[in-house]
Amino acid sequence: MHNRFFGEMSLKPEVATPTILVIDDEDIVRSSFCDSLEDYGYKVVSSDNGKSGLDLISSTQPDLILTDLRMPVMGGIEFLNRCTALYPQIPVIVISGAGLMGDVVDALHLGAFDYLTKPITDVNLLQVSVTRALEQVRLKRENKNYQLHLEQLVEQRTALLQKSNQELELHKDNLEILVNDRTKELHATIENLKQAQDQLVESAKMASLGRLVAGVSHELNTPLGIGLTFLSSLSDKILSFERAFHAGELRKVDFENFLSSAKKSSDMVITHLNQASDLVQNFKMVSVDISSDMERKFDLVEYINNVVESLKPELNNVTFELKHDAAQNYTIYTYPGFFSQIISNLVLNSKIHGFSDHKKGNIKMELRVSGENLIIDYQDDGIGMSQEVQQQIYEPFFSTTRGTGGSGLGMNILYNLVVRNLKGSVRCSSEINQGAKFIIELPGLLDRS
Ligand SMILES: Nc1ncnc2c1ncn2[C@@H]1O[C@H](COP(=O)(O)OP(=O)(O)OP(=O)(O)O)[C@@H](O)[C@H]1O
Ligand SMILES: [Mg+2]
Repeated sequence: MHNRFFGEMSLKPEVATPTILVIDDEDIVRSSFCDSLEDYGYKVVSSDNGKSGLDLISSTQPDLILTDLRMPVMGGIEFLNRCTALYPQIPVIVISGAGLMGDVVDALHLGAFDYLTKPITDVNLLQVSVTRALEQVRLKRENKNYQLHLEQLVEQRTALLQKSNQELELHKDNLEILVNDRTKELHATIENLKQAQDQLVESAKMASLGRLVAGVSHELNTPLGIGLTFLSSLSDKILSFERAFHAGELRKVDFENFLSSAKKSSDMVITHLNQASDLVQNFKMVSVDISSDMERKFDLVEYINNVVESLKPELNNVTFELKHDAAQNYTIYTYPGFFSQIISNLVLNSKIHGFSDHKKGNIKMELRVSGENLIIDYQDDGIGMSQEVQQQIYEPFFSTTRGTGGSGLGMNILYNLVVRNLKGSVRCSSEINQGAKFIIELPGLLDRS
């Protein structure tokens, strides 16, 4: 048999010929029993009383005992008494003479397996009883074997389980150590990453500052260079004018020429120095130096209208419309300078870029309130922007009108004011020839008092 429970242990029924011990004091009866049983194929040993029968058991190891009840030296009842105490596993069939039913009952009480009455008229009865008794022996042995094997298996499995439990414990401990180590490593890695990230942010800041400074220097170079050229030519003209004056060679026409060219030169110098000064002004705003401005309470609708009004000279053929909910109070407490920068950058961009090819242009602005947020919805109907332009619009010095006046700082200033200073957000959406739209959301500005 080979299965899950019994493994490879052999549980085959015994094939050895069963041995039967026959105890009877009557020789004829005894030998008749012996003959019949031998005919059935059993190995038979015999004895003529209980005592000698008992002695034979240990040497012959019978599988079954047939014993008479009334015998000299030791009768069947006493034999049964001792035999069941010493060899409880061997079944005993008692053979009784007729009329001894009391003894038979006693024997059955003492554990006899069965009884037969003498004389045996039907040998089949003997065979049936013997076969049953031997079958019981076989089953008991098999049962015992099973039990034994099961116990061994349980022991083996228990030992195996204990071993794997120990291994698991060990594994668990190792895992815990491993997890702890890995967690520490991860913490260290995260810490390193954070530092690396901070360094990256820092170096990105430095890089953009570097770009900013380089850009500003470059931008300043042009107006300053031109101013300087005009100034040095003016200084040359003054020198020759002075020389002519001292030599007494100065004619009226020379004087007039000098005056007009000095005026031209100084105009040029002023124009270009103004450009340089504007640039420096803008550059200052990039770093969003707000310390000089004062925080105050003001009405945003009124303020926006003022800013647009101040831009009017530059807004030929541009209509501007500001929509807002009349029932809503738009009083805010912050730096008004932020809003003049935001509004003028948006409006001038629409004029300069959006409406550059158009004779006319329309700007619509709407103020909305959504929960704690103030929303500025700005829209023009100009030439709009490509995706590529939109992606770079907030980059410092990104301009599609470089060389013709654009420094590319306007939207960068707007972005910094909205996102850093006002903790809000700005979104641009536009398509070529579909105008440009900016949605600015500003949290917690509205005065609820
Ligand atoms: N309303 C708009 N319509 C079309 N293009 C726009 C609009 N606003 C901005 N742009 C594009 O975005 C670019 C960047 O704008 P930004 O205001 O930063 O720089 P700029 O106007 O070129 O220069 P600056 O404002 O410093 O004088 C512009 O050059 C232009 O191409
Ligand atoms: Mg601009």
